[in-house]
Amino acid sequence: MNTCFDFQGKSLQLYRFPKRFTHPSWQAWDAADELLIEHINEHQGDIEQAQMLILNDDFGALTSWFNSAQICHISDSYVAQRAAQLNLEENQLPTTSVQFIDSLAIPAVQPDWVVIKIPKTLALLEHQLAQLQSIISVNTRIVAAAKVKSIQKSTLTLFEKYLGVTTTSLAKKKSRLVFCQPRLPAKMLKSPYPTIWHTDDKLFEISNHANVFARQQMDIAARLLINHLPDCSNKHVIDLGCGNGVLGLYILKNFDNCKVTFVDESHMAIASAQYNVEHNLKDKLSQCRFVVSNCLEQVSSDWETDIVLCNPPFHQQNTVTDHIAVQMFEDAKSKLKRGGELRIIGNRHLEYPHKLKKLFGGYQVIASDRKFSILSSIK
Ligand SMILES: C[S@@+](CC[C@H](N)C(=O)[O-])C[C@H]1O[C@@H](n2cnc3c(N)ncnc32)[C@H](O)[C@@H]1O
Repeated sequence: MNTCFDFQGKSLQLYRFPKRFTHPSWQAWDAADELLIEHINEHQGDIEQAQMLILNDDFGALTSWFNSAQICHISDSYVAQRAAQLNLEENQLPTTSVQFIDSLAIPAVQPDWVVIKIPKTLALLEHQLAQLQSIISVNTRIVAAAKVKSIQKSTLTLFEKYLGVTTTSLAKKKSRLVFCQPRLPAKMLKSPYPTIWHTDDKLFEISNHANVFARQQMDIAARLLINHLPDCSNKHVIDLGCGNGVLGLYILKNFDNCKVTFVDESHMAIASAQYNVEHNLKDKLSQCRFVVSNCLEQVSSDWETDIVLCNPPFHQQNTVTDHIAVQMFEDAKSKLKRGGELRIIGNRHLEYPHKLKKLFGGYQVIASDRKFSILSSIK
C-alpha cells in the first residue's frame, strides 16, 4: 500500500484504519483531497489562525495537511475519527488542536472555511448542509470535492437549496471541486432526517438518522435473519453492525430475560438504535448497552457473550472489501464464551463459509434463499 503522500513540496505518511488491513491498491487519500489542498493553498496560503470545519475526511489526509489551522473534524464514522488520530500521531502532529465531533452535533464556532468530502450517502450530505446553515456567514468559504461520478445534479441542488449559489470546477484526475457562495438564509430549512418506517408486522416503528443503513425500509437480508434467530432466552447477545438496531429489537421482543449490546461504527446508527429501543421497548432499555466501536474493539467484556449476530458490511467508504467482515468474525470469536455462537447472514457469492471454517473449524448452514445464506459457527 502506498502510504507516502508527497504533494506540493510536503510529505505525509498516511494509513487507512485499521492499519493491519492493507491492500496494495489502497491509499488513505485521493485526487479530491489533492484538489481541495491545491484550491485552499491558492486562495489562502496562510491558514494558521483559520477556523476550519472538515467534513467526512475518511482517513485524516485533510486534517493532517491543514493541521496548523483550528480544525473541527466532523464525521459520522468512528473509524474515520480513529484514522485521523492515527495519522496525526504518525506524522508527529498535535492532536489537541483538532476537535472531533460526530455528525449529529453542531460545532460551536463560526468557520472561515468549510471543507467537505462529499459522502457516498446523499442523505448524510443533506443533513450536514442543513446543519451548516446556522453557523456559516456570507464570508464563509465553502468548498467540496468528490469523484466526478459522485457529483450529480441532485448533489448540486442540495448545496443550492440549503446554502447558496453553487458552481463546479473542471474535472481533474476524474475529480471535481464544488464551490458554494453562502447567502443569508431567509429562513432555515430543517433536515428531513431522521426518517421513519414500520416493520411489516407493525411491531416496531423504526427511526433512522441520515447515514443509517436501510434508512428507508428493512434490509432484505435482515428480514431473512429475523426469521432464523437463535434461542436468545437468558443470553447476552451482541448485535454487531446493528444499524438502526432492528435485529436487536426482535431479540428483545421474542426472548425472555436476554441482554443485548448494540455495536456500530456509525454514531448515527447507535443514536438511532438507542432511540428505537427507548421508543418501542422502553421497559427493556436497562437490558441494553449501546457502543460506538470499530468491530468489537471498544466493547468491554463485563457481560459474558453467548451469541454474536451479524449482517456484515461489504464495503468501507467507496471500497468493496470483506476485511471488516473478517475483523468482525475474529473479534466475535475472541469475545464469545466457549460454546457461544456466531450467526451471520451474507450474500451467497461471498467467501464467508471459507472464512468461518478457517477461524472456527466449521460452520452450519441454518437457512438460505436465492441470494443469502445464514451461517452459524460455534466456538
Ligand atoms: C449491512 S449493515 C447491517 C445493519 C443492520 N444490522 C441490519 O441488518 O439492517 C452493516 C452495518 O455495519 C456497520 N459497520 C461498518 N463497519 C463497521 C465497523 N468497522 N465496526 C462496526 N460496525 C461497522 C455499518 O455502519 C452498518 O450499520
